[in-house]
Amino acid sequence: MKHTIVTLAILFGAALILNVAETWAHVTEASAAANQVGPWMKWFGQLHVILVHYPIALVVMAVVAEVLYSWTENPMYEDAAKFMLIAAAVLAIPTAITGQLFSLETSQESALAGYLWWHRLFGIVTVVLLAITVLLRYTTTRKAYLWSLALTLLSTIATAYLGSAMVWGPQI
Ligand code: HEM
Repeated sequence: MKHTIVTLAILFGAALILNVAETWAHVTEASAAANQVGPWMKWFGQLHVILVHYPIALVVMAVVAEVLYSWTENPMYEDAAKFMLIAAAVLAIPTAITGQLFSLETSQESALAGYLWWHRLFGIVTVVLLAITVLLRYTTTRKAYLWSLALTLLSTIATAYLGSAMVWGPQI
């Protein structure tokens, strides 16, 4: 029963994100067309390139810590995973916000415009999945939490790949 509720909550969240991302994309196009990006927003948006490293590294290392905990049952790894997961969830928020501002400044070639759309979508999905995973960490079974963590890892990797593909090319 608990698992069904959790799965439904995740599906509902994903559907909601799709809608929000779609709306956000339209708002983005409208404001870019109106050239409303001020110099401070431009500066703030550029922080995206620095911030991206934190959620990526923290999510990967939280998974490594959980694997080591399952293997050794040393509570040090459980604490490390908890800390890194919460830090990733917090830092993913400014990462996504600065990414959105950055996207107003950068002009993507038409071949890469699709990457930006998917990158934005997966970026938002990652932020929401991180929040859900932190919640599950404290409210439900370890199994449900680990499934959510695995989904978060996949979403983070997809976001990172799509972002890097825009900058370095799709062949990376
Ligand atoms: C957790 C969320 C996110 C992560 C981990 C992430 C990660 C990345 C990465 C790894 C890069 C490549 C940086 C480089 O190689 O220099 C990138 C670039 C970029 N991201 Fe994100 N991103 C996230 C969210 C977003 C969101 C929500 C947007 C909104 C549109 C966005 C827009 C961009 C843009 C415009 C670029 C630069 C592309 C260019 O320079 O042409 N990101 N991101």
